[in-house]
Amino acid sequence: MDLITRYQEVRRRTEKICSYLQTEDYVVQPVVDVSPPKWHIGHVTWFFETFILKPYFMGYEEFNPDYNFVFNSYYETVGNRVIRTDRGNLSRPTVIEIYSYRKYVDEAMANFLHDGISDDVKELMVLGFNHEEQHQELLMTDIKYILGHNPLFPAYNAEYAAPHFADPASDSFIKMDEGIYEIGFTGDGFCFDNELNRHKVYLNAYEMSPKLVTNAEYLEFINSGGYHDFRHWHAEGWDWVKNNKVGAPLYWHNIDGGWHHYTYHGLEPLHLKAPVTHISYFEAYAYASWKGLRLPTEFEWEAAATRFNWGQRWEWTESSYLPYPGFAKAPGAIGEYNGKFMVNQKVLRGASEVTPPGHSRITYRNFFQTNLRWQFTGIRLAK
Ligand SMILES: [Fe+2]
Repeated sequence: MDLITRYQEVRRRTEKICSYLQTEDYVVQPVVDVSPPKWHIGHVTWFFETFILKPYFMGYEEFNPDYNFVFNSYYETVGNRVIRTDRGNLSRPTVIEIYSYRKYVDEAMANFLHDGISDDVKELMVLGFNHEEQHQELLMTDIKYILGHNPLFPAYNAEYAAPHFADPASDSFIKMDEGIYEIGFTGDGFCFDNELNRHKVYLNAYEMSPKLVTNAEYLEFINSGGYHDFRHWHAEGWDWVKNNKVGAPLYWHNIDGGWHHYTYHGLEPLHLKAPVTHISYFEAYAYASWKGLRLPTEFEWEAAATRFNWGQRWEWTESSYLPYPGFAKAPGAIGEYNGKFMVNQKVLRGASEVTPPGHSRITYRNFFQTNLRWQFTGIRLAK
């Protein structure tokens, strides 16, 4: 696929996700981790404008010089910005103005790409596509948080359907031999810098569950008092449970004794067979401990991943988010993409039902802090 077509497809997909929103849905920021949809659609546009049009398109005129302040996310190299907690205070620029900004940048990009570009810029374009796809997933999870924390529990889209995943043929754990395994990206396609360099890791013999933990199974943990037994929790996790009065995954509501959860269709009785989701690392760890099992490391996950179906949930691993041997940050602002977040986070592997098609890989490393639950996180057990 040529770059112009790929660009247009990525941009269109973002707008399709937002097409189910009302104007008011674009604006709110209920918690710090959830950005208003209007900010996302401006920020991904800013990314193409800042890293491609401004440095490489001769004569390009910025749409609005104030937008760098508003739509820069975390790039210190690129200057001052609105602090993250204040994104929900941006009643201006308006949603209409931000769509005009998108159109302006899209037209400039079409003109720019028309004349052909160097390999360096091509690489930045592909990074821009992958960046916008990451924000498409964030749009889906942030919209879920915004609507799912509205007391009226409005549906996002009645036609939303999660991709179908077949059950594994057997529940038996997959046996993996001890030995040396190669970890990390290899090949000619795109990967993020955090998937490099490919390197060898020694693993003891281990076993992986072929399936994810379901809501029904997680309910057993709740009903057996899992949230009230300190023995299953890290000290930090136990404090988190008590301080936040946590007793179930995010979006679960016990109504007159029956469990419900918020979905893109609105509030529904809990889907018992669906894989549990919207749980923190603390909860994933506690559940595994209660079962007398454990979470896999990210290396165990990657070495075994061709032997099970993945892609429904971001699977918490026992691994801290650290650089691989020989990891090097790119020079300039792009070097701020991943490396500076390699502290106090856990790695998640796989992908989720709202990850854009074609965005995931076996070597992909997602990462979040241990208390966060608004992504489609899940549990795969190991022993
Ligand atoms: Fe971003």
